[in-house]
Amino acid sequence: MPDQAEVSAGAFAGAAVEAARAEPGPMLPAPFVVTGKRQDTSDTWTLELRQRAGSPLELAPGQFTMLSAFGTGEVPISISGGGEGEEGTLVHTVRAVGLATQAICDAAVGEVLGVRGPFGRPWPVDQIEGADVLVVAGGIGLAPLRLAILALLARRERYGRLLLLYGGRSPEQLLYTSELEQWAARGLEVGVTVDSAGPEWLGHVGVVPQLVGRASFDPDGAVALLCGPEVMMRFTFSALAQAGVSSDRVYASMERNMQCGIGHCGHCQLGPTLVCRDGPVYSWSELEPWLAIREL
Ligand SMILES: Cc1cc2nc3c(=O)[nH]c(=O)nc-3n(C[C@H](O)[C@H](O)[C@H](O)COP(=O)(O)OP(=O)(O)OC[C@H]3O[C@@H](n4cnc5c(N)ncnc54)[C@H](O)[C@@H]3O)c2cc1C
Ligand code: FES
Repeated sequence: MPDQAEVSAGAFAGAAVEAARAEPGPMLPAPFVVTGKRQDTSDTWTLELRQRAGSPLELAPGQFTMLSAFGTGEVPISISGGGEGEEGTLVHTVRAVGLATQAICDAAVGEVLGVRGPFGRPWPVDQIEGADVLVVAGGIGLAPLRLAILALLARRERYGRLLLLYGGRSPEQLLYTSELEQWAARGLEVGVTVDSAGPEWLGHVGVVPQLVGRASFDPDGAVALLCGPEVMMRFTFSALAQAGVSSDRVYASMERNMQCGIGHCGHCQLGPTLVCRDGPVYSWSELEPWLAIREL
């Protein structure tokens, strides 16, 4: 027979389990099932995930989740689809560069992955109505911008010109190639460039910032959303500044090493901020002083 103390301890544990189930907290991964999978490039896959239980996550373009495959660790991955109109679905495009990302890319349909989040400050798509918007992406940087593009196109009439300037290392490394045409048909002016290509490539060869000089838009009030390697974003910002776009109207998504994703561990510090909590999207005027400091 359990004594009174054992009964109360059991009741307390039961209540704690119920409370954790009702309110799981930001450190507890939720199970998501892989419901679809597509290979985009030699090392990049897009996974469609479906939430197993609970109310659908509220996602905003530019946010990220902490995504995990059992036994390999957790990594920050931007949300590239899901949310509005596709409640309960989460889309991630992942480049296999190491243990965790390789395991995520290897996950088969039906497998369960862990998801925490969504976390982070989104792209300001609701605050830039009326503006010409330049979406500038390099490589896998198009993934964190995909949901922003879909949000802009869903309310196309609220914006001025919408331009996508996108660059990859080679034609084979470009993401979402079939969608680029669909987006163009819906009113996105798409400019694509590659660093190098064979004779079959009839498009532009060169780096992304060069596309800024060729684009036509009204610099007064234009807004730019940048995501890609930091060096690409720096040169793109210079080209935008030269064209007359002010630094408080340029936004960039930043990457730093992350562990907790919720502002507790300090791993993702950038200047006086934490990228997981205060970013990943910053205005360039916020970033400028910190980017001037060389990292050791
Ligand atoms: C906010 C945010 C959003 C991101 N969104 C995406 C996304 O949508 N798709 C995607 O494929 N990746 C994204 N990343 C990068 C992704 O988190 C890293 O590639 C991943 O953490 C690598 O983990 P790993 O265990 O597979 O590799 P590791 O074994 O940890 O590292 C393998 C290699 O990748 C490098 N690396 C590790 N972490 C990073 C990082 N954060 N940035 C750059 N290089 C890194 C290492 O130096 C090493 O060379 C994002 C990162 C952040 C911070
Ligand atoms: S990842 Fe821990 S504080 Fe940002």
